[in-house]
Parts: sequence; C-alpha cells; structure tokens
Amino acid sequence: MATAARPPFLAVVLLVATVMLSWGGNVEVAEAQTPVFACDASNATLASYGFCNRKASASARAKDLVSRLTLAEKVGFLVNKQPALGRLGIPAYEWWSEALHGVSYVGPGTRFSPLVPGATSFPQPILTAASFNASLFRAIGEVVSTEARAMHNVGLAGLTFWSPNINIFRDPRWGRGQETPGEDPLLASKYAVGYVTGLQDAGAAGVVDGALKVAACCKHYTAYDVDNWKGVERYTFDAKVSQQDLDDTFQPPFKSCVLDGNVASVMCSYNKVNGKPTCADKDLLSGVIRGDWKLNGYIVSDCDSVDVLYTQQHYTKTPEEAAAITIKSGLDLNCGNFLAEHTVAAVQAGELSEEDVDRAITNNFIMLMRLGFFDGDPRELAFGSLGPKDVCTSSNRELARETARQGIVLLKNNGALPLSAKSIKSMAVIGPNANASFTMIGNYEGTPCKYTTPLQGLGASVNTVYQPGCTNVGCSGNSLQLSTAVAAAASADVTVLVVGADQSIERESLDRTSLLLPGQQTQLVSAVANASRGPVILVVMSGGPFDISFAKASDKISAILWVGYPGEAGGAAIADILFGSHNPSGRLPVTWYPASYADTVKMTDMRMRPDTSTGYPGRTYRFYTGDTVFAFGDGLSYTKMSHSLVAAPPSYVSMQLAEDHPCRAEECASVEAAGDHCEDLAFDVKLRVQNAGEVAGAHSVLLFSSPPSAHNAPAKHLLGFEKVSLAPGEAGTVAFRVDVCRDLSVADELGGRKVALGGHTLHVGDLKHTVELRV
Ligand SMILES: *[C@@H]1O[C@H](CO)[C@@H](O)[C@H](O)[C@H]1NC(C)=O
Ligand SMILES: *[C@@H]1O[C@H](CO)[C@@H](O)[C@H](O)[C@H]1NC(C)=O
Ligand SMILES: *[C@@H]1O[C@H](CO)[C@@H](O)[C@H](O)[C@H]1NC(C)=O
Ligand SMILES: *[C@@H]1O[C@H](CO)[C@@H](O)[C@H](O)[C@H]1NC(C)=O
Repeated sequence: MATAARPPFLAVVLLVATVMLSWGGNVEVAEAQTPVFACDASNATLASYGFCNRKASASARAKDLVSRLTLAEKVGFLVNKQPALGRLGIPAYEWWSEALHGVSYVGPGTRFSPLVPGATSFPQPILTAASFNASLFRAIGEVVSTEARAMHNVGLAGLTFWSPNINIFRDPRWGRGQETPGEDPLLASKYAVGYVTGLQDAGAAGVVDGALKVAACCKHYTAYDVDNWKGVERYTFDAKVSQQDLDDTFQPPFKSCVLDGNVASVMCSYNKVNGKPTCADKDLLSGVIRGDWKLNGYIVSDCDSVDVLYTQQHYTKTPEEAAAITIKSGLDLNCGNFLAEHTVAAVQAGELSEEDVDRAITNNFIMLMRLGFFDGDPRELAFGSLGPKDVCTSSNRELARETARQGIVLLKNNGALPLSAKSIKSMAVIGPNANASFTMIGNYEGTPCKYTTPLQGLGASVNTVYQPGCTNVGCSGNSLQLSTAVAAAASADVTVLVVGADQSIERESLDRTSLLLPGQQTQLVSAVANASRGPVILVVMSGGPFDISFAKASDKISAILWVGYPGEAGGAAIADILFGSHNPSGRLPVTWYPASYADTVKMTDMRMRPDTSTGYPGRTYRFYTGDTVFAFGDGLSYTKMSHSLVAAPPSYVSMQLAEDHPCRAEECASVEAAGDHCEDLAFDVKLRVQNAGEVAGAHSVLLFSSPPSAHNAPAKHLLGFEKVSLAPGEAGTVAFRVDVCRDLSVADELGGRKVALGGHTLHVGDLKHTVELRV
C-alpha cells in the first residue's frame, strides 16, 4: 500500500496534525487504536444495567436506557455530536460519517491516521451506475462496509454512514449529480438497494435481530437537486412539485431504499417542497417514510436543516417552535446542535411533549444497539477480527479498477479503438485532466490507497508526451497553452485528450450555468485535433454531461469516451479500455442535452413533463423528446451484440375485473394498479443475446416500455436491466418477469398508480413487441 498523494490544502492540514502529534507524544496514535463502545462487560455495574443486556430485545434495552435519563440528558441524544454520559458508561459518539464511494474523511466521525492512511476510493456513483450491473452495486457496498468496520475497530470510523445520495439527476447542471446514480428512477432504486444492502448486510445475525454491519442512509429526501444556480440556493429553494412528479420521479428511489433495501436511515433535505421544509413535513416524514414505508431506523436532518428552516427560511417564529415541529413531524436526529440547544425549552413551553423526545431518542438508541455499540468491545464481536490489514487490499483495489472499467462509456468510435500498444511509438497525452489524481475521486472522498492517473495508466504501455494544454480545468484567459499542446499532437502517433470538469466547475453548492466545456477547452480540443498526426481520442472526465456536438461531428476526432470521475484507479481503467484489454460496456445514466437546453430551461423549474403550450421541453429520457447530443442508455462496444426474442411474450393480457368494477360497464383508459385483478398478472420476456463479434464483452440489456398515452405517461420508461458477459460467438439468455401492475403502471395526476389499457410496447434496442392489455 503506497502513501497516497493529497491535494495541496490537505497537505497543509496534515503538516499541522503531524506537528501536533510530535508535540503530544504518542497520545493520538494510542487513542486511535481503541474503538468507542458502551457496556464494557468487564465492569459489573454496567453489566447489570438492562440496556446492556445483550439477550434482551433492542426495544426493551432502549426503553430501559430512556427510563434512566433526565430531559436535559435526553436532548444530547438528538444531535450528531452525542456527548458522553459518564454515569452510565456511555462514551461520546459522532453519528456523522460518510461513505459515498469509499470510506470518506468528510464526516467528523471518520478520519485517517498513520494506522490506516487511506481507503479504497471507488468511482463516483454516476460512473458506477453506468455499469448497469446490480451485483456490482452491492459488491462495492460490501467492500466499503468491511473497510469501515476495520477502521471502526481501531477507533478511526463511526458506524453510521450518511450515504448513498439517491436523488434523481433531474437537471444536467446540478453540481451534485456526480454523487447520484443518474436520472432514471428504476436505476436509482436498484443502485440504492444494492449499495445499501452491501453496506448493511450482517448475514444471519441481521435476519434474526436486525443486526447491521454498518448503517446506511438514503438522502436527501426529497425533490432536492438545486444547490446554487444563479444565486438560487438550496437553503431557501422551494421546489414546486406536482403529486404526479413526486410519485413517479422523486420518491421511487427512497421508497425502494426503505422497502426493499431496509435502509437504517433517511435524511431530510434543506429545500422546501411546495412551501414546507422537508424536515418539518409530518406527511412526508411520519406519514410516508415511517407510516407507508415502515422505516425501521432513524430520520436525520441535513446539516443543519433545522437551523436553516428557522434562521434562513423563517418558517417558524421561535427556535423552540422549530425544535417542536421537526421532532413532532418525525425527525429523530439533528445533524447540527440546534435540537440540543432548544428542545428543553420547547418541552417547558408545552410545544412538545417529553414522549415525543423519547420516541426520537428511542429510534436512535435502537439503531446503535443493532450496530453493537451497546454490546461492549467490538473487537470481541462479529466483525471484530477486521483491522487495518483489511483496508486497501489488492482485491478491494482491483474492484475499484473493475468498477471504472465496467462504467466507462464509449460514445463514438470510427474504428481507431482499441489501440494497439505495440504499434505506437509515441502517444501525446493532452488536456487539463490528462494527469488528474484528486479530480478522479470527486467529492465526499477519502484518502485513496493509491492513484493511477490517466498519464500513468497509459504510460505503463506506451511512451507518452504530456501537455496539460491549460494550466487548470477552468481553462480561462491566459491559462491556455496551445502551441506546446499542438506541437505534441503533431509529432505523436496517437493523441489522447483528457478534458472535462472538476470540483471547481461542478460541486456541492455550485451548479453549472452552461453545458459547454469549461473556458477554452473546446478551442484546445479543436486545435489539437486539427494538428494531430495520428488518431485523436477524446476522453471526457466529468460528473455531468456536456454538449460536445462539435467533437461528435468532427472527422478529426476518432473516438469519444466518458469516464465520470473514475476513482483512484481511473487511469489504469482508461488504459484497459483504450488498449482493448477490457471491452467497454458502460451506458449513459443521463441524457446529454444540447447547450441550448441550459439557455431555455430554468433549473428551478421542477416539472418533468413537457408543456407544448410554452415550449417547455420536459426532462430526462422519459419525457424530453427534443434533440440530444447523446441519449440515456447510449454506449458502444468493440464487439457487436444482437438480440432476439426466445419466446414472444403474449400479444395480449386479460385482466379479470370484479363484478362491480366500473370499467366492466363503461370504457376506461386505465385501472388501478392494485387489487385482486393484479394478482399473478405477469408474463416473461426471454431474450437471446449473442456476441456476434470477434472479442469478448459484457452487455447490459435494457428493457423499456412505452405505455399508452393515458395520464401524461412517459414516452418510455425502464422496466429492468440485466448484464451478461459473452465470449466471441457465444449466446446467452436474459429473462425478465414483467408484473403487469408493478412494471407497466404509471403515476396518475393525483399520484395513484394506474395501469393503462391498450398497447404497451416493450423494447430492447431495435427489437419491439407490443402487449395489449384488455379487461
Ligand atoms: C463502571 O462504570 C461506572 C459507570 O461509568 C463507573 O462509575 C465505575 O467507576 C466503573 N467501574 C470500574 C471498576 O471501572
Ligand atoms: C502526474 O501526477 C502525479 C500524481 O499527482 C505526479 O506524481 C506526477 O509528477 C505527474 N506527472 C507529470 C508529468 O506532471
Ligand atoms: C481546424 O482546421 C479547419 C480546417 O482546416 C479550420 O477551419 C479551423 O479553423 C481549425 N480549427 C482550429 C481550432 O484550429
Ligand atoms: C457484474 O459485477 C460483478 C461484480 O464485480 C462481476 O462479478 C460480474 O462479472 C459483472 N457482470 C458482468 C456481466 O460483467
């Protein structure tokens, strides 16, 4: 394990920490080796407490603990920085840790030290999602939770991780789109379930008593996807969302995360939805998350959305009122300190009852019990053998590289790819991201095990000449270094241009205003492409999409790849793809719109559906029908895959409606997607996929449906996806079970689910089949 390179600002922090460490002797290192836990079994007093009794149920133990606390003590358990309660042997606990794509140092509950200097840094989720491989989502979660537990056992990490971010990537300009699995509700749902299960699954113990490996958190609930666009900030933004859009776009990933992923936590967001801050919306919290979806876990606020709704949104007149309304709405934990400061006064003023506080802290205690925090020393429990040796292992690092390979999307190839390393005497590697390291791991990052930059990855196989072309990604004004870049391209056998974005262009609290490449990157690409002696490969490293129509149309540019923010091994994965040792199989998880989209559509307009009367084009592949630069699901391969139907699904399906159903008497456009008539109403779609080319490859089969037009339904929507790996000439079968009411239904105008009668066209690539739904 090599020491990782760090960005300059962190290097400064590190220097200070090292100095402090040498002044403080070995104190800090020694501390770092002891995990925090309650109920030390060697202390007879503690062992006699009911809340320490491992044989009792978590709820009985939590009840015992709550009964021992004063109100002033209780409110300490409402905030992320939970103070120590010495008289009961409970140490301080920091609830806030992050693990978006690897264990991260962003939350104060987790840090790196000489003992564990780094953790495996996977690609940003937007690239992982492009793999369309559900078992990969889970495999990554398993590695991350193993590394997290290993760090917990040496006192470096918490047990509660506020990841993943599963908001729909609704607008291409969103600075946090990189953190998400993209624009499609089904893909986001599958990602949420896979990643959360990988993080949380504790095996047999989890089935018996709800034990968790670590606790995940699906965030940010809900309709949150404006950070800072032209001065409109997330802290005060009021998302105006129709019930229909809420139910068929924004809520599905959260619903799956809770119902199918059994997530431990949901985080409410900063923004308001239809005038109400989400953390103070009883319908959204108690009603939907805990009521309809039956969350078994805790609801936490963003940091610090309770304070924000009082001080910035002025939603309540007093801080006590803010404390009361959030807790009564169903909030259990406040990231921030607001509830520790104002809840006692809220109870004293009669705005909140102590039972409301008890409910919230009970949910938090039960969570810590399921994580083993009240079971004594974790090194003597399940996962107790994990330690520093289990972090950054070669197989974990290989999975980071494999994930990038599976996600990278080939968008154009006139035959130049794959490159033959043997026949290349010199390669020009040009562009502001050509030697990217920190940029590759995006945000919510940790210190990686080891970086392989694109230049290093390519340089492992061929001689390279490196020219950044611009001194930074912004590429503005005099940062352009055209002549040296052009000269390098003019004398090389092949040119690889690595351009795109970084956190200075798109990040939390910064949305883009343009879809064009930053600054003068377009001029750089054109001039280099013009001057190149050999083929030009354009690599776009970014979270969000760009309008690169000029490159798509250019004869001078032979191939285009999108590589997301590809994680610590990104450069190695790019080389694997360019030299053909791995065949690309990623497919775009978002629509790439023309630049004009950003000029005509307000980012703050939440509507998904087009409005022809005003020319509003709608959003995402499900509703937008205008021109695209590249479409959702686009992605090429070095081989050719063909599909055929093994057995055609039925050409019609009949629904048996009850005697008194109104649609028996009169003609209906749709019927409810629930009830007896839905029972066992399903059919199979079996496809044969053949690798008709010369090289092995993987292929994600995406099954879409275009429903009848009732209820302003999407033009098409993804029903399922399945990835297969095929040798040259090999054929495989992919089967989908289509449940008519679950998979073919759409949200109606009021948010109920309806299944339309008439022809539903199922399609995979060019293959189409229509199933007629009758009563
Ligand atoms: C046992 O724990 C209690 C509560 O923290 C503490 O007061 C007491 O000193 C501990 N006893 C021993 C022997 O450590
Ligand atoms: C490329 O980046 C790596 C990692 O930051 C650095 O060590 C190396 O010096 C850079 N190479 C060039 C040619 O700048
Ligand atoms: C590239 O070459 C074309 C045709 O030779 C020319 O019109 C264009 O201006 C050149 N572009 C750049 C950026 O040098
Ligand atoms: C999906 O990812 C898993 C985990 O890395 C891998 O074992 C499997 O081969 C992948 N599937 C395909 C078809 O590539």
